[in-house]
Amino acid sequence: MRATSLILVSLAVIATVNAGGVCTDPNATGASLSACYCNAGYYGTSTDITAAGSCQKCPAGTNSQAASASGTTQSSCNLCFDSNATAKSDGSICGCNAGYYGTAKQTSTDTTNSCKTCPPGTNSALQTAISTQANACTLCFDTNATAKSDGSICGCNAGYYGTAKQTSTDTTNSCKTCPPGTNSALQTAISTQANACTLCFDSNATAKSDGSICGCNAGYYGTAKQTSTDTTNSCKTCPPGTNSALQTAISTQANACTLCFDSNATAKSDGSICGCNAGYYGTAKQTSTDTTNSCQKCPNNSSSVQANAANTIAVCSICLDPTHATNNNSSSAPSCSCTDPNAQFSTGATPACQCKANFYGNPSTTATSTCTACNSGQTAPAGSTTNVCTSSLVLIPLISLLFSLAIIF
Ligand SMILES: *[C@@H]1O[C@H](CO)[C@@H](O)[C@H](O)[C@H]1NC(C)=O
Ligand SMILES: *[C@@H]1O[C@H](CO)[C@@H](O)[C@H](O)[C@H]1NC(C)=O
Ligand SMILES: *[C@@H]1O[C@H](CO)[C@@H](O)[C@H](O)[C@H]1NC(C)=O
Ligand SMILES: *[C@@H]1O[C@H](CO)[C@@H](O)[C@H](O)[C@H]1NC(C)=O
Ligand SMILES: *[C@@H]1O[C@H](CO)[C@@H](O)[C@H](O)[C@H]1NC(C)=O
Ligand SMILES: *[C@@H]1O[C@H](CO)[C@@H](O)[C@H](O)[C@H]1NC(C)=O
Ligand SMILES: *[C@@H]1O[C@H](CO)[C@@H](O)[C@H](O)[C@H]1NC(C)=O
Ligand SMILES: *[C@@H]1O[C@H](CO)[C@@H](O)[C@H](O)[C@H]1NC(C)=O
Ligand SMILES: *[C@@H]1O[C@H](CO)[C@@H](O)[C@H](O)[C@H]1NC(C)=O
Repeated sequence: MRATSLILVSLAVIATVNAGGVCTDPNATGASLSACYCNAGYYGTSTDITAAGSCQKCPAGTNSQAASASGTTQSSCNLCFDSNATAKSDGSICGCNAGYYGTAKQTSTDTTNSCKTCPPGTNSALQTAISTQANACTLCFDTNATAKSDGSICGCNAGYYGTAKQTSTDTTNSCKTCPPGTNSALQTAISTQANACTLCFDSNATAKSDGSICGCNAGYYGTAKQTSTDTTNSCKTCPPGTNSALQTAISTQANACTLCFDSNATAKSDGSICGCNAGYYGTAKQTSTDTTNSCQKCPNNSSSVQANAANTIAVCSICLDPTHATNNNSSSAPSCSCTDPNAQFSTGATPACQCKANFYGNPSTTATSTCTACNSGQTAPAGSTTNVCTSSLVLIPLISLLFSLAIIF
């Protein structure tokens, strides 16, 4: 009974195999019942006697070798049609290798898809899912660079300049830190500039065209902010009336405001004021467009010293003949006049008080005149120091005639 059953079962199995040809599964090939193996491009179990064990087609892009011994398993679709792709360990996809992007070839004859090399400087990780991005090269060889969202370039980060490393072993290129005080935006194109650090942390500073420094703008002085959080340095506005040129080198001067809006004023060496020059009075122009203030030339016969303590010099306090003249100290029109009422300033390079015309002598230093008047009818030129008074040539004959007439009558 037992032997009969065993024989019947064996016969039934042989009948089943014989009824379906060599292999039941059209996607398997084999010589006998116990040796039906999945074809190349298929995966599954080797013993092809149940529907559940049938050979399944490899996922798109992946491939498998024909099984030969113990059969292919699900994980054996580990061949890729694309030579620059690698099969995921579960054989579900063939993803582009690190350094490549795109969609791996889906068949051996696929001319549409392929894994493409990442652009210079950019990199990618091994794909573990078919990328939907046009370019997934969002890794950079340079740690101070960031890939553009389209993966087309790796640009230096904000605060860096130069060309990002192009390969993992690139020793020529690298993103370099911007010089102190300067800054850069994230590169979105490979810069051709030697130094693209043309942004300044200080809003009152401008980067030198070569990006080497951020210098304070015209009208400002000091050291530009060196970082975004710098509270020590900053470009400060020049004192009123003073000005500065755009810094092209970091100034070591406390105050470099050595330009004046007023052409008749000179900046104090510390740049703190622009005072009227010697020979001028008033308040130096405070701005380039100031029409209220300006340094005025001292009136004749007076002068002033260089204003070195304030922008303003009220009066031309120096009389060119200080011994014989006083100043009316008027801020509107300071003027020197001779103390001797019968004296006046001489003309000349250095005017001095002298006796007026028809007087002679030396002027006094007080209001009491020491200039002596010529006798009636006599004249003397201004500046006469001795009695050179002479009678008028016209008056003498006339007076003589009058005398003659008086004698006759
Ligand atoms: C053989 O593979 C084809 C696809 O190539 C599939 O449609 C069919 O179902 C497979 N046959 C079996 C028996 O699994
Ligand atoms: C794989 O990439 C290389 C360049 O890295 C290329 O020359 C080759 O053609 C690529 N292979 C395929 C199948 O596209
Ligand atoms: C990135 O920049 C830092 C300084 O900010 C520097 O120390 C580092 O070496 C740079 N990395 C590379 C790869 O050049
Ligand atoms: C720039 O200068 C202006 C005055 O001209 C000042 O108000 C401003 O705070 C300055 N900016 C910085 C960042 O110091
Ligand atoms: C400077 O003084 C001269 C006279 O000495 C005058 O002609 C000129 O206008 C003055 N400049 C300014 C800016 O006021
Ligand atoms: C000042 O002196 C100059 C020459 O020295 C003369 O031309 C000018 O008229 C004088 N001005 C006054 C107001 O006297
Ligand atoms: C002008 O000021 C000086 C110095 O303050 C003074 O000595 C002089 O007496 C003043 N002159 C006049 C005319 O007020
Ligand atoms: C000072 O002298 C000038 C020139 O003579 C004159 O114009 C002005 O009015 C005088 N000022 C005063 C306050 O006397
Ligand atoms: C200066 O002195 C000259 C004479 O030397 C005179 O003519 C002129 O008016 C004086 N100027 C002033 C502003 O007093």
